[in-house]
Amino acid sequence: MKCFVFLFSIIFSGCSSTSDNEETAQNTDLSIEKTALKQGNRISSQAQQALGSQLMKIVNKEGPAVAVSFCNLVAYPILDSLNYGIDVNVRRASVKTRNPKNKANGIEEKIIRSYQQQLVKQESLTPVIKELSQDELLYAAPIQTKNSMCLNCHGATDSEISKNTLAKIHSLYPEDNATGHKVGDLRGIWSITFKKKELLKFQPDTAAVNVDDVLALVKQNCYSCHSPNSPSHEDIIAPPLEAVKRRYLIATGDDKAAFVTKISAFLSDPSQQNAIMKGPVRRFGVMPKFNWSEETIAKIVEYMYENELEQPAWFEQHHREMHP
Ligand code: HEC
Ligand code: HEC
Repeated sequence: MKCFVFLFSIIFSGCSSTSDNEETAQNTDLSIEKTALKQGNRISSQAQQALGSQLMKIVNKEGPAVAVSFCNLVAYPILDSLNYGIDVNVRRASVKTRNPKNKANGIEEKIIRSYQQQLVKQESLTPVIKELSQDELLYAAPIQTKNSMCLNCHGATDSEISKNTLAKIHSLYPEDNATGHKVGDLRGIWSITFKKKELLKFQPDTAAVNVDDVLALVKQNCYSCHSPNSPSHEDIIAPPLEAVKRRYLIATGDDKAAFVTKISAFLSDPSQQNAIMKGPVRRFGVMPKFNWSEETIAKIVEYMYENELEQPAWFEQHHREMHP
């Protein structure tokens, strides 16, 4: 079997303005770090969800003694195919890697070491932002072996990983170093490199309450998961927005005020309790939270109510089959 790994590393040449006086520059720096943190949280949970659903598909299909086409797990093509709504370099890095392309560079290794020290002190690990240069910020967040599922492929080679799986791993990753982990270990980090210039696109969201901008906002923030271009029902990482809309129209008897109130309540606090789509919650987990004003959320939901939403080509037929 052959694996193709697509490696895109996007390198820009930045231009920076030096005319700002120091005070505004400092304020901008603070607010841009906040934006980087927020966007990093959003992008890493999106990426995590995409890789996680791939992983669950395989583990569910193959059972716990996983011996699979690990090609499906090569992260780069998956990570690069996602639409993050921003030009950005997203990867996972580790000091004990399976895929040598994921080897931590200098600054990533420093961050990993410091997370490891925090783990020893039983502190909880949180995302960090580091300045890479005048033009670039790095977002890093811990990836831990949260549960024993991970140990099927990253645990003890003599007990937790099946013989078949181990053989598969060795054939594809001859330099594999990513075993022997226990639940709770630090497996690696999300490493997301932002151009500061790109981050400026994500001003505090009050900039986006112009109705003309709502579609742009939906495209930029919702389509990455609720994609209208998914090739099949098997490939999705969240239900199409049109499916969400129909479900909520039924739940609210087509009443606009109730529709807006109910979806807004979910978007302000996406919890299992507020979710009404129990099937998708089981399949994908509850969706992540956006820190948006009530006003922006209401605009988006009104837009969903009043406009025809783009939907994937397979959707109508699937919908008819499921809801005859
Ligand atoms: C079915 C086997 C399998 C399971 C289960 C699995 N992984 Fe992996 N993991 C892999 C493979 C294969 C790679 C190499 C991916 C690549 O080539 O991009 C990998 C790579 C990684 C990497 C990137 C760093 C590196 O070593 O290359 C991280 C981080 C990671 N896994 C974390 C996890 C966590 C956390 C879990 C549990 C939630 C988990 N994995 C479960 C097979 C698995
Ligand atoms: C990171 C992926 C992701 C992004 C980005 C995302 N969603 Fe979701 N969304 C999901 C997933 C997964 C579900 C299904 C699980 C659930 O219901 O929570 C979902 C469900 C929903 C639901 C139904 C909730 C329920 O169960 O009652 C609504 C409404 C929704 N999304 C609206 C939006 C809107 C509007 C946006 C853009 C502003 C958006 N989502 C962006 C992943 C995402």
